[in-house]
Amino acid sequence: MNVLFVASEMAPFAKTGGLADVMAALPAYLHRAGHDTRVVLPLYDSIDTRKETFEAIMDLEVALGTHRYACKIFRVSTTLPIYFIHCPALYARGRLYTSDPDEHRRFLALSYAALMICQRLDFAPDIVHCHDWQASLLPMIIKTLVAKDPRFARTRTLLTIHNLMYQGSFPVEIGPDTNLGSVAHLFHQDLMKAGRVNFLLQGILYADGVSTVSPTYAREIQTEKYGGGLDGFLRARTATVVGILNGVDYDEWSPERDRHIPHAYSVGALAGKERDKEHLLTSLGLPYVKGVPVLGVVSRLVGQKGFKLFEPVMFELLRKHGFQLVVLGSGEPGLEDMFRRLQGQFPRQVCFYQGFKNELAHLIEAGADMFLMPSIYEPCGLNQLYSLRYGTVPIVHRTGGLADTVHQWQPRTGKGTGFVFDHHDEAGLRWAIEAALKTYRDPAQWQRLIHNGMTSDFSWNVQGKLYELVYGKLAAAGRH
Ligand code: ADP
Ligand code: GLC
Repeated sequence: MNVLFVASEMAPFAKTGGLADVMAALPAYLHRAGHDTRVVLPLYDSIDTRKETFEAIMDLEVALGTHRYACKIFRVSTTLPIYFIHCPALYARGRLYTSDPDEHRRFLALSYAALMICQRLDFAPDIVHCHDWQASLLPMIIKTLVAKDPRFARTRTLLTIHNLMYQGSFPVEIGPDTNLGSVAHLFHQDLMKAGRVNFLLQGILYADGVSTVSPTYAREIQTEKYGGGLDGFLRARTATVVGILNGVDYDEWSPERDRHIPHAYSVGALAGKERDKEHLLTSLGLPYVKGVPVLGVVSRLVGQKGFKLFEPVMFELLRKHGFQLVVLGSGEPGLEDMFRRLQGQFPRQVCFYQGFKNELAHLIEAGADMFLMPSIYEPCGLNQLYSLRYGTVPIVHRTGGLADTVHQWQPRTGKGTGFVFDHHDEAGLRWAIEAALKTYRDPAQWQRLIHNGMTSDFSWNVQGKLYELVYGKLAAAGRH
């Protein structure tokens, strides 16, 4: 099949979260599986164009209402072609996402440029795989404005929702910039009357298929509690909404061959993990004491991730149990401040590294004993999957992809891979951390638990096939 991916992030070029990891791995899997797979991305100013060969292949002018954008298209041929849209007027902002008044145009330009590239290269996609709100108007555009172009006659669209809470909701005045004025009736009318246009909603309404990144999240987003106001529309399309877990790129994330950690280890030879722990602590200025458990956090520090629960539980548990805590992340000032206070109160136990640092993310996965993800909701989550492979026992809230991938440890049967609390409250978190600390004190049980996690398999070879099945179904439906 010919598959075109349109997204706002892809590792290693541009990353704020898990979407970038998925984009680095899923298209590569499809390419290996024999599909002609191509990716279109913005050329943000943060992308270092000296690291790969960026070859200029064409110039385009994208028109959005009365706005005109001159774009140069660069191709990078890694294993597969990636087309970067160079347009400093839109993408030289010092960060990937903004709340600037032209935010909608930054990603509409991406969508239109993607289609123009197909036209110029005479590439007829069977599937246009759109990710998140940034690419969510593509299904509508393909069904209307370019519908007569034979290159798109067979094209089916799949919208993957990585996080339903980011919807791309804009004031209705941006309407003309979408170029979709002639089909304005296809926009959700009540919402328009209320003065809004919601990109993600339009994608949910017009994509041929809708997927999200775990089976549990696929169910949750069809409920009022997790639906962000869009649950009714998702329920209306329930037959086309599927949940496919993200996979892990084990070439990047395996303790046997991780370039970012000093001591390799594996399920049969764990000595390196203890040495990585020592390295992690000493490099962060914390004392290393054998037998003292280290808990890790690597996260965007936003409400979704549930760290509000740490206050007061984490203060209380650090005092009571004397474990150590290593945190890497940045985000909301209130949460950063809480981690700073934790570090201030427990200087020998806690290190908060404020920022985004890939090497340290790898080192924490390797060096910590346990990994905390108390997310309120979590579409999939990748760090718990990395943790499992690194023998770092996840402690998670039972929600979304966390519920699907971490199984409660059962001391009696020796089954399970982590600690899972049902209720997102202080008692839940306290119970899970204390259960993990207790199990840690029993080396035989801990070994078994680590072994269960390290031998579970979430590779893209398994998950990628599920996407191929969805593509196949969409393409078959398109032929009738
Ligand atoms: P989300 O996409 O919601 O942030 P995921 O668990 O799917 O959550 O993915 C997070 C990804 O971002 C992981 O690859 C993780 O290592 C990375 N990450 C998050 N915060 C940081 C950080 N501060 N430094 C380095 N990597 C980070
Ligand atoms: C989003 C979600 C996260 C998911 C990632 C990749 O950022 O918050 O749970 O793993 O997308 O799909």
